[in-house]
Amino acid sequence: MNPLTTLVEARFDPHYHNKYATLMAAGNGALGVRATHDEAYATQTRGMYLAGLYHRAGEGETTELVNLPDLVGMEIELNGEIFSLLSGELLRYHRELCFASGELTRVVDWRSAQGLRFTITSSRFVSAQRLGAFCSRIAITPHDGSATIRVATGIDATQTNSGRQHLAERELRVFDNRYLQGRYRTLDNHSDVTLCCACQVSPQAQVSFSAKNRRLLQHTQQTIAAGESFTLEKCAWVSATLDGPDDNAAAQSLIRLRECAVAGYDALLAESLQTRRAWWQGARVEVESDREQDQQALDFALYHLHAMTPRHDERSSIAAKGLTGEGYKGHVFWDTEVFLLPFHLHTAPGVARQLLRYRWLNLAGAHRKAARCGWQGALFPWESARSGDEETPEFAAINIRTGLRQKVASAEAEHHLVADIAWAVAAYGQATGDGAFMAQEGRELLEETARFWLSRTQTVNGRLELHDVIGPDEYTEHINNNAYTSYLAHYNVALALDARRRSGGPDDGFITQCEDFLARLFLPMPRQDRVIAQDDTFFSKPTIDLTRYRAQAGSQSVLLDYSRAEVNEMQILKQADVVMLLYMLPWRFDSATVAANLDYYEPRTIHDSSLSKAIHGIVAARCGRNDEAYRFWRAGCDIDLGDAPHSSDDGIHAAAAGAIWLGAVQGFAGIRIEKGELHVTPSLPQHWTRLTFPFCWRGCQLNIAMTHDTLTLITDRAVTLFIDAAAVEIDGRTVFHLTDHGWRKEAICNPTR
Ligand code: BGC
Repeated sequence: MNPLTTLVEARFDPHYHNKYATLMAAGNGALGVRATHDEAYATQTRGMYLAGLYHRAGEGETTELVNLPDLVGMEIELNGEIFSLLSGELLRYHRELCFASGELTRVVDWRSAQGLRFTITSSRFVSAQRLGAFCSRIAITPHDGSATIRVATGIDATQTNSGRQHLAERELRVFDNRYLQGRYRTLDNHSDVTLCCACQVSPQAQVSFSAKNRRLLQHTQQTIAAGESFTLEKCAWVSATLDGPDDNAAAQSLIRLRECAVAGYDALLAESLQTRRAWWQGARVEVESDREQDQQALDFALYHLHAMTPRHDERSSIAAKGLTGEGYKGHVFWDTEVFLLPFHLHTAPGVARQLLRYRWLNLAGAHRKAARCGWQGALFPWESARSGDEETPEFAAINIRTGLRQKVASAEAEHHLVADIAWAVAAYGQATGDGAFMAQEGRELLEETARFWLSRTQTVNGRLELHDVIGPDEYTEHINNNAYTSYLAHYNVALALDARRRSGGPDDGFITQCEDFLARLFLPMPRQDRVIAQDDTFFSKPTIDLTRYRAQAGSQSVLLDYSRAEVNEMQILKQADVVMLLYMLPWRFDSATVAANLDYYEPRTIHDSSLSKAIHGIVAARCGRNDEAYRFWRAGCDIDLGDAPHSSDDGIHAAAAGAIWLGAVQGFAGIRIEKGELHVTPSLPQHWTRLTFPFCWRGCQLNIAMTHDTLTLITDRAVTLFIDAAAVEIDGRTVFHLTDHGWRKEAICNPTR
């Protein structure tokens, strides 16, 4: 494996505080910590989250991922002056996140208003090994004579979710004159949260403690000679009981903290690095490209895919912003099954299984929602948290002139999520051959989602139709026969029927109902020019020039000029819809139909959703349009990594990170799973000379490497896949060459593994 890249912030600019706090956030799937600065800035939003710890602050509020008391902040006073990069003079600034270790380091040279120079170096990480551990370290060196250095840090429970406080303070203690502990309980008495920390300083330092106004702090003071360094090392342990209060939890937390404090920063970092190294080994995508940012985007995406995924807990899933911010309240969307699950499925299939079990364990909530709406089966919530109930806020933005709030329609009608989950179940079954899962959780998920569709139809002139839905394109609401929804629902029911037939169970009418549904469900067919109608009325709507809005994709600027109702009446797409369908079910459409729909819909799409561009890129790659595919892929990378100052303030775009992997593997490497078969059709961008990645398929580990004219597959056991639509069995190391007649297997095959 070549060395991993890093992410550098070379300039201190308050406009980018929150963006970098997101991009450089630390996480291990259980605990996420935003990369805010040690010292306070009014414009930066601190954030620390535990996967699955949700709470509703009060009436009219939405359940949200709790922003925990802060451990990062440090009040630093240098010879009586408060240290801030907004005062004095900044002589050097460098912040760097190392994707390999997850360590974030900042080096600052600063001249105070009194004219004294200091070097301040700080670093921190969240352990990939001990899921509650967070460590930080700061070193301060005066250069122009001795200086008195004061640092106050500890546990700051004044932190809120934008003013909403979720935690009641229960107890604050300092044990053994060293270990600080804050105990909190969510206001609904459901969860106990414990934070502990200990700061290691030199024996010469003066130390005292204070507890006031929800802040438990250690105050450290020391006079340091020029050229010497003041150092403070902080170890912390963060934990919560997610399924009821537990008085033992605090004592356990303290034990864990003591273990960490004994080990210390360096040993904990080394241990965490080992865990991370093993993870990267099974996941890294390496690209040889003359543009450095391509490898960086892949490393960035995978770093965050690791940080956001709660591998330790099947009752939690991946939030739309991971554990990096409060956007979307920490809720789980279809993003998980469609944009994130494939990465796990093909690098660590057990994680994909767990993500599906999260849905399975939440079937009760999906049944409740379906019943409440008058349907049957499982209608999963559009936005999900821990309870499995619908968590979508009822209203979105307020019109401050009229005081009226805009209803969020997704929870009422954006039902494609149900079929997306079934799609992911099928993908899991095909990629793993996990019969035990498919016989129980898989079958139940497929059947219960199918039952929903069976009950959801309307009969119109003898055919079945799906009315009043919202497809992925949320700028077109409450429409009939949305192509995406109908095709996916059809697929969902076909999967359930197949599973039921295979299981050989008794027919309680389900089989007949499915057969009838499949025979009679209306699926919009391509017109003569091969374009498929997004819904019944789409073609009758006018178009407008979208150039201006497309130039500001992601900002929803069209809604400043038009109301949602007006947008609804035009051919304006927020994100891929029919194109999304082409991506999801590629075997249903021939290449001319794919190209025609891409050409028709893309100019009508603003790409205001971060889920849009990458999918267009993959579909373009499948059409053999490499340059276009690369442009879309890069634009997808820039959703978080681009220069726009506020684009990621409230958290990473988790789905867009997943799509960076999808674009490389499904787009350029041309991996496609069709009807349970693995197809590989490489088509690298011109300036990519080599692409390599690991890929799990049916219990075997494939290592795939490709250039423009060779394809090397190394496998630990025999497996069949399709190259140029021809089945080939490979075992050991197999090389293919691109010839005028397509990919040809190398005559001499070296069977060494
Ligand atoms: C998109 C949805 C997506 C959600 C969370 C919305 O803007 O339209 O498709 O699920 O963001 O990422």
